[in-house]
Amino acid sequence: MSEVVKVIIEGKTYECPVIVGSEGEKAFDITTLRQKTGYITMDPGFGNTGSCTSAITFMDGEKGILRYRGIPVEQLADHSSFVETSYLLINGRLPNRQELTRTSVQLNDDSLIHEDMQIFYQNFPRRAHPMGILSAMLNALKSFYPELEDTEEGINRTFLRLLSKIRTMAAMSYRISRGHKVVYPRADYSYCANFLNMMFDSPVRPYELDPDLVEALNVFWILHADHEQNCSTAAVRVVGSGRVNLYAAISAGIAALWGPLHGGANQAVIEMLTNIHQSGADIGDVVKRAKDKDDPFRLMGFGHRVYKTYDPRARIMKKMCDTVLPKLRVEDPLLEIARRLEEVALTDPYFVDKNLYPNVDFYSGIVLRAMGIPTEMFTVMFAIGRLPGWISQWKEGADDPNWKISRPRQVYTGNTSTDYVPMNQR
Ligand code: ACO
Repeated sequence: MSEVVKVIIEGKTYECPVIVGSEGEKAFDITTLRQKTGYITMDPGFGNTGSCTSAITFMDGEKGILRYRGIPVEQLADHSSFVETSYLLINGRLPNRQELTRTSVQLNDDSLIHEDMQIFYQNFPRRAHPMGILSAMLNALKSFYPELEDTEEGINRTFLRLLSKIRTMAAMSYRISRGHKVVYPRADYSYCANFLNMMFDSPVRPYELDPDLVEALNVFWILHADHEQNCSTAAVRVVGSGRVNLYAAISAGIAALWGPLHGGANQAVIEMLTNIHQSGADIGDVVKRAKDKDDPFRLMGFGHRVYKTYDPRARIMKKMCDTVLPKLRVEDPLLEIARRLEEVALTDPYFVDKNLYPNVDFYSGIVLRAMGIPTEMFTVMFAIGRLPGWISQWKEGADDPNWKISRPRQVYTGNTSTDYVPMNQR
């Protein structure tokens, strides 16, 4: 007989079927609980709630494992490209040579942005945050590319269009925010090289591509490509479950990623390290502040809902700091501060007992700084990397014939029935 979990409510026993994942993870299914008992479950922040089954990404937070479609992220970082990893996530398998070439050609063909969209960019205030611009512009893409997405070919085309255009749009927003001329994509450059060129090429000083830098960006994006049901991916799935178009669902994901507790942490880490550097604050005092319950300050880039050990992406990112910075002949005082902070925090009982380790954002900003990416663009860099994950998670939902609209319940704690009081009696 298959396994069940017994729930006793008011003396009566109810059986909930157990679902077992391919890596042995277990859940019990409560979908009929309210109907049978009148009870719902309560789990603010969804730390114990599975919202779907998924065959895309596996992570084990206790062991520090992250795999896309079964392949360890370390292997992908060593051998794959961001375009190939995107194909893997979206299609469920690695492409053959022909499929990869076809994908690259299509990404090049789709890389231009409708010229009329530039007018929008020009009208954002110069100081507008690029994440706000990116979210708005991605949503606007649907108006410029209203083609139907109800055939497999149409949907696949939309995926590639999004992957290609997000990179052009991100670089464009940076150029315009600086008052610089937009640089167009080039068909002879790879995905990552094209982005760097669109960001930094100049009519007065042509940009010289550095293969080490291109490779570093490639690895950075692979490490960010998916992370199962995190805040922004959950947003994409929830918004998408209302059957809104894909552009709008991705735009919601970008908005969710912006927050400093999520993708915005990479910007917050550099701001924190810069503050420490400029103020000359003592590392011990910084760690003390992070532990103080009466102080809202937290050690940015530390802690994770799922990882209770070292984030495997942070490990690779830290190694990248050690190899990429010397190669680029960059000496960043923030790297030394980050290393010392990590050292102090990882021997402090507060951080040890709560299993708080560096997450991907702790060292990623230092790598991005070495590439010349401005701090306010850091979370945009994360968003470009996360796009294939958002697309594949949306697709998995859309392909599921039982995809239900997301609609959590609540336990109401407000007034019970209360009469309206006319204005002159209040
Ligand atoms: N600094 C100091 N204390 C921390 C930190 C931190 N960075 N992170 C967690 N804690 C403490 C909390 O105060 C809490 O203590 P308590 O149990 O005594 O109340 C305990 O550790 C558990 O933390 P929660 O906030 O309950 O854990 P949750 O899973 O809800 O939050 C989160 C995870 C948001 C990542 C949190 O660790 C945090 O705010 N970190 C800093 C921001 C950050 O780096 N975000 C990026 C995450 S990775 C990503 O999204 C790409």
